[in-house]
Amino acid sequence: MKQRRALRKPINDDSVERVAPKRPYVLVTDAGHENPPFKRLDQPTGFLMDRISIRGGKILNGSIQISGAKNAALPLMIASLLTAKTLILRNVPRLADVNLLLRILRNHGVDMMVEGKRAKQDESVGETIHLSARSIVDTTAPYELVSRMRASFWVLGPLLARCSEAKVSLPGGCAIGTRPVDLHLMALEQLGANIEIEGGYVVARAPKGLRGNRIVFPKVSVGATHNALMASTLARGETIIENAAREPEISDVAECLNKMGARVSGIGSSTLQIQGVEELGGADHMVLADRIETGTYAMAAAITGGDVLLKGARADHLDAMLLALRQAGVKVEADGSGLRISRNGNRLYPINIDTLPYPGFPTDLQAQLMALMTMADGVSTIRETIFENRFMHVQELARLGADIALAGDTAHVRGVDKLMGAQVMATDLRASVSLVIAGLAAEGETVLHRVYHLDRGFETLEAKLQACGASVERLTAG
Ligand code: EPU
Repeated sequence: MKQRRALRKPINDDSVERVAPKRPYVLVTDAGHENPPFKRLDQPTGFLMDRISIRGGKILNGSIQISGAKNAALPLMIASLLTAKTLILRNVPRLADVNLLLRILRNHGVDMMVEGKRAKQDESVGETIHLSARSIVDTTAPYELVSRMRASFWVLGPLLARCSEAKVSLPGGCAIGTRPVDLHLMALEQLGANIEIEGGYVVARAPKGLRGNRIVFPKVSVGATHNALMASTLARGETIIENAAREPEISDVAECLNKMGARVSGIGSSTLQIQGVEELGGADHMVLADRIETGTYAMAAAITGGDVLLKGARADHLDAMLLALRQAGVKVEADGSGLRISRNGNRLYPINIDTLPYPGFPTDLQAQLMALMTMADGVSTIRETIFENRFMHVQELARLGADIALAGDTAHVRGVDKLMGAQVMATDLRASVSLVIAGLAAEGETVLHRVYHLDRGFETLEAKLQACGASVERLTAG
């Protein structure tokens, strides 16, 4: 990776307004979006040009309901392809990525119904979605859809397992790294699939059906584990997946698959055993709480020196992050209702962190932690070991006055006394929210451009922050 050194001197070039181009260029983001979901490249819209204005300096106090996890909801929705019966998913977050995946699944023939709101229903609880793939009408996932969201590539395993063939576009690279799919393909080949790459598509065939096997991943991959796990539920015989990802979202999917009649054991460990079954049935499943959203609001509370209760948060999924916060001098209290995060005037201490697969410190919280450490009392070291290019937020944090030096995969963050508001650009989902966190602590106004990145993964972000006293406002263009 090209080494960059962020400017030590704060740049607050507010005089330069970055205007969204008339024909937005192709920008592939962390989940693979080339452009905002549902918008064509030749249709610049107000949606594209929405901005978020943050007036920093307000101390966050109050409570925030944590939404269902995006990274569990997406594979759970994809699991609906494995059965002709109805899969009911509850607490599905209202996100652009969820809407895009619904569209992709509809293309394969999945019928869907979103339950209407009941009287007195808590607005903060996610949606209930019924998905029924009675028959798969199309086993092709086209480039136009897959290129907008990487996780949609995970339809490959379930389609192949159910229909003995699938043709899914290669997702391509993205803003945070090259993100190959070799491990997904290796796993499906181990299950007996014949795989060819034709015209940018993965064409997988298993005319006699998939058969169980031992899959040993040389590297931990969340997506490849999802693909292998889902495919093997319908393979003949036993599959053992070794060096499987252990993220809580994988366990959530495995538990839902078991409710559907699958036989998965070893859930939560790095070795999953799956006894294949003839067919799967329906199920009713509640999406687990989003640990990345939890961590994000925890950092937001901490940077403002506030006191916030994160309702429904699962502390047991966030050990590494909570340890880091405690080391930084933030008070963390967990009880049955969630997590309380407070830093009433205490100083922030610098910390050293490497991102790692679960249960290590999540790469999806690296940018947010960096935002917090910009105000720590000393130099923090943050090493990104999962993705090779996940430091795009560094230049933007520097615009707010952060002092960050990059050396290969490591960022050295020297805490500053204050950040100053500026115009900043969102580059991917987690990077964008790190700029919101920094903006909450910065003096004056921070304006975040390209807000559609945030809408992919954070449900009602402005409302949740406003309810705790933050001055955050969406500026809708057009
Ligand atoms: N990798 C390979 N070959 C493969 C697959 C992955 O080399 O076939 C590499 C990747 O390039 C990367 C590493 O393995 O260096 C880990 O990638 P992984 O497959 O685990 O990532 P993913 O499944 O594509 C999911 C999340 C990401 C999260 C990563 C890591 C979803 C929808 N996406 O991606 O979440 O960062 O795991 O935890 O679950 C986000 O939500 O913002 C996001 C990017």
